[in-house]
Amino acid sequence: MQDLADTARALVAPGKGILAADESTTTIKKRFDAIGVDNTEANRRAYREMLFRTPGIAKFISGVILYDETIRQKAADGTPLVKILRDQGILPGIKADIGAKPLAFSPNEVVTEGLDGLRERLAEYRELGAVFSKWRAVIAIGDGMPTPYCIEVNAHALGRYAALSQEQGIVPMVEPEVLMDGGHTIERCYEVELATLREVFSQLAAQRVQLEGILLKASMVLSGKDARNRASPDEVARYTVDCFRESVPAAVPGIVFLSGGQGDEEATVNLDAINRYAAKVRAPWELSFSYGRGLQAAPQKAWSGKAENVSAAQRAFFHRAKLTAAARVGQYTPEMERETVAV
Ligand code: 13P
Repeated sequence: MQDLADTARALVAPGKGILAADESTTTIKKRFDAIGVDNTEANRRAYREMLFRTPGIAKFISGVILYDETIRQKAADGTPLVKILRDQGILPGIKADIGAKPLAFSPNEVVTEGLDGLRERLAEYRELGAVFSKWRAVIAIGDGMPTPYCIEVNAHALGRYAALSQEQGIVPMVEPEVLMDGGHTIERCYEVELATLREVFSQLAAQRVQLEGILLKASMVLSGKDARNRASPDEVARYTVDCFRESVPAAVPGIVFLSGGQGDEEATVNLDAINRYAAKVRAPWELSFSYGRGLQAAPQKAWSGKAENVSAAQRAFFHRAKLTAAARVGQYTPEMERETVAV
C-alpha cells in the first residue's frame, strides 16, 4: 500500500501533471484526420516518440498514460518507448478499459467495458512497466440523463477496476467523465457531478479500495459547450472545488482534470482559477491535470506528420506543458501565452 500511495503522490507532485496519450486507434484517427496524417502504426509511433523525447519535458510531466499498442512499441532506434519515459523519471501508465458501449435498456447512455480478463491484462502491463492505470466512465447530460442506473453501473465497474488495479500494485486513476456536450447550465453540471462522485466513492468503499492509493480523474464543473452565458473561470473554480468538498474524501491524494474538449487556453485558465480558489479554501487534495487534447492540440498542428517539423512541435508541446504546469500551482498569467521557447 505504501508503494501505491508514493506513486500516487509522485504523479501529483507540485508543478507537475500527466499527459494523456492513450487515445485508442480510432480516437487518434480523428486527431490525425484533422492534420492530414495517415493513421498507420509508424505514424502513431513517430508522433508519440516526438512527444516523449521533447527535451526537458520531465520538468512538467510526471506521468504519461499509454495505449496498449504504445506500451509495447519501440522508437525508431529500437529503444522501447516506456524506457524513454523511465530514463527521464516519467512514470508510465496504461489505459485499462476497452471503451464505452451502449448500455442495455437505456439507448442513449453508455457503460465502459473491459473487466473480463482484467486481472491478467494488468499483470502483463505491470511487467511491461506500468505503475498506474486509467479507466474512463462516460456520463452524458441531457433530457432525462444521466439515469441513476447509468451512474450506478459505471461506478460499480470503476470499483471493480480500481480494486483489481491495486491488487496488481498499480495505482488506479478512477475517471468518471461528465461530458460537456449540450446546452446545460453549470448548476445542472454540478448536480450531475455531485451525484456521480458520491456513487463512485460509495462503490470504492464497498469494494475495499484504499483511497490513499488512487487518483481521481475528474471533469471540471462547467456550463455545457452550447450554453448561453457560459460560466467564468472564477465560477468554474468555485463550483468545481465546492463539489469535490461535498463528495471526495480528504484521503485521496490528488484530483487530476481531463481537458474534455475545452480549448487549450480555456483548460489552462480554468485550472489556474481552480488552484487559486482551492488554496483560499484550503482544499485537502493536490489539483492537477491529466490532459489529452489540452496538451496535444498545439504540437499536433505544428507537427502535421512531417519529420522537419519535429522541433517546432516539441517547442509547442513544451510551451503548453509549461503553462499548464504553472496553472496547476495557480501561477499562470495570460502574458505567458506569448512567450517563445527554445528547445
Ligand atoms: P482529454 O483531456 O482530451 O479530455 O483526454 C483526457 C483523457 O484521458 C480522457 O479519458
